[in-house]
Amino acid sequence: MTLLNILTYPNPFLRLPTNPVTDIDDEIREIIADMAETMYDAPGVGLAAIQAGIDKSIIVYDPEADDQKRDFQVLINPEIIAAEGSMTSENEGCLSVPDFRADVTRAQRVTVQGLDIDGNPVRIDAEGLLSVIFQHEIDHLKGVLFIDHISALKRNMYKKKRIKALKSEQTV
Ligand code: NI
Repeated sequence: MTLLNILTYPNPFLRLPTNPVTDIDDEIREIIADMAETMYDAPGVGLAAIQAGIDKSIIVYDPEADDQKRDFQVLINPEIIAAEGSMTSENEGCLSVPDFRADVTRAQRVTVQGLDIDGNPVRIDAEGLLSVIFQHEIDHLKGVLFIDHISALKRNMYKKKRIKALKSEQTV
């Protein structure tokens, strides 16, 4: 397995829509294994392929990720087919948005459908953290970042801070 390089904001690749997977072959299974490894290494509880520079509709997630237990799930071509209620996702963060967390308004419950690693259709009803993970990761597949859901003022403050940080990295 290979650790993948996680792209960070404002990399324009993160804004691209992804393409559905048509054939779950060895290459796709390898991408999934690498994505899981990368997610645990980061560490994070979810990762979309686009974050690793792969423009395919694949997410991996593990809301209970810890060092002892690694039991990730994968969804291929996932879509939210129903959403209801509203909740605040506190201190949401993203591996592609370094050094920033914010409260985000999310649906309380979502129903997601997609394919499992064997290509079988699956449908999952989720609430709480899992619901937030699905909304966050499926947003990535459409080029949307969690900072798009916060106020323009907060987003612009982050943008300035980030650009400044990147400039200082370059000059060192
Ligand atoms: Ni993210």
